[in-house]
Amino acid sequence: MKILPARRLEGQMELPGDKSISHRAAIIAALARGRPRISNFSTSADCASTLACLAQLGVRFKREANTIIIEGVGTESTMLLQAPPSALDCGNSGTTMRLLAGVLAGQPFASTLTGDESLRARPMRRIIEPLQLMGARISSEQDRAPLQIEGRPPLEPVSYALPLPSAQVKSCILLAGLNASGRTEVIESHAQTRDHTERMLRWFGINVKVETNKQDRTRITIEGGKPPLARDFSVPGDLSSAAFLIAAAALLPRSHLILQNVGVNPTRTQFLQTMRELGADIRVRNVRDVCNESVGDIEVRGTGALANSKKQTKFILRGTRVAGLIDELPMLAVIGTQVEGGLEVRDAGELRVKESDRIRATIENLRRMNAEVEEYDDGFAVGGRTVLRGALLDAKGDHRIAMAFTIAALIAEGESMIEGAEAVSVSFPEFFALLESITER
Ligand code: S3P
Repeated sequence: MKILPARRLEGQMELPGDKSISHRAAIIAALARGRPRISNFSTSADCASTLACLAQLGVRFKREANTIIIEGVGTESTMLLQAPPSALDCGNSGTTMRLLAGVLAGQPFASTLTGDESLRARPMRRIIEPLQLMGARISSEQDRAPLQIEGRPPLEPVSYALPLPSAQVKSCILLAGLNASGRTEVIESHAQTRDHTERMLRWFGINVKVETNKQDRTRITIEGGKPPLARDFSVPGDLSSAAFLIAAAALLPRSHLILQNVGVNPTRTQFLQTMRELGADIRVRNVRDVCNESVGDIEVRGTGALANSKKQTKFILRGTRVAGLIDELPMLAVIGTQVEGGLEVRDAGELRVKESDRIRATIENLRRMNAEVEEYDDGFAVGGRTVLRGALLDAKGDHRIAMAFTIAALIAEGESMIEGAEAVSVSFPEFFALLESITER
């Protein structure tokens, strides 16, 4: 994909449904008693993988534009899926694999979860361990997919302290907990990760309790044995997709962008907070509660100048706040090149095991654009106030790298070419068309 520099952005739009929330809605609705309707379902290839796996497990659904009507398999006391005829292909989607593993651990049949080359290289020990503690049998080679799961219903309830901050692992255990005989507990002691599963299970009538103590330790408990009720659900616009457009509007002077109906759940808004600390003009208006999630309208005005608002030094992101920014860090690396004083990110080793090694991919591409960068095991540093140079860039098959560097190319001098740009369809197939519709050159 060829990208030319832009002068400014101007526009108002709604975004496709949140990917993280859509996965959960499809899975929970599939287990429900009745026929839930999910509107504004994500258009991403990742969520299509979740639907395809559910179809293989005997779940029937109907699609009317972006609304999906799912025939849940739940009865008063069971949530029985069917043994799949072949291995379940999760494509590029870690969320599909990790969340479905939790469901399959409590089903009375054996199944195999697999995925593309990137997904088969990602760490799965993090879900294998808790699911084995709950009684499931899981075999794999070196803790990587394909995962063979022998379900053992009902599972044994556990109390599990997450060894790393991960919403996927937390959600895997909570979904397994639905099929456990008693109360399953997950403890988050590092950082509170996105809480869509907890909120949605509650929306669907499941007894989920969340308590946070003074040390910021969060304990989530779920009562097993009862299938979700059928309730309709409306998915908010995807804030992680919005982040790329917000970044572009903040960086290009005199831009003005309004994004309506975007999910602004507080466990997802760390990016907006960070951008404001860097001096971006971002307002969230009309915040309301929709199906237990916060939704709002986001307005961004391009000021061009970004800097550490406290002092004109390097802006450092580390510690627990990094988990809340994990999907936005490649974008923030690009933004860092425009910030007075530059930017450093640490404690982000998880970036190395995402859809690509995002530290490597970010560093390599920024270097090609003439940025001053340093690579660490657990992060990176970028020098500020850099004139980026258009270059040949490589998405490394990773949707978020493709989008972050498209925005980098918009603010660069000269033309850029992104190899593997089609990866954007993993989370945001409309990205290039929507961006083009609001770009002035
Ligand atoms: C996700 C959680 C995060 C995030 C991913 C989606 C989710 O992963 O990076 O894009 O939907 O739960 P981890 O749970 O591995 O941090």
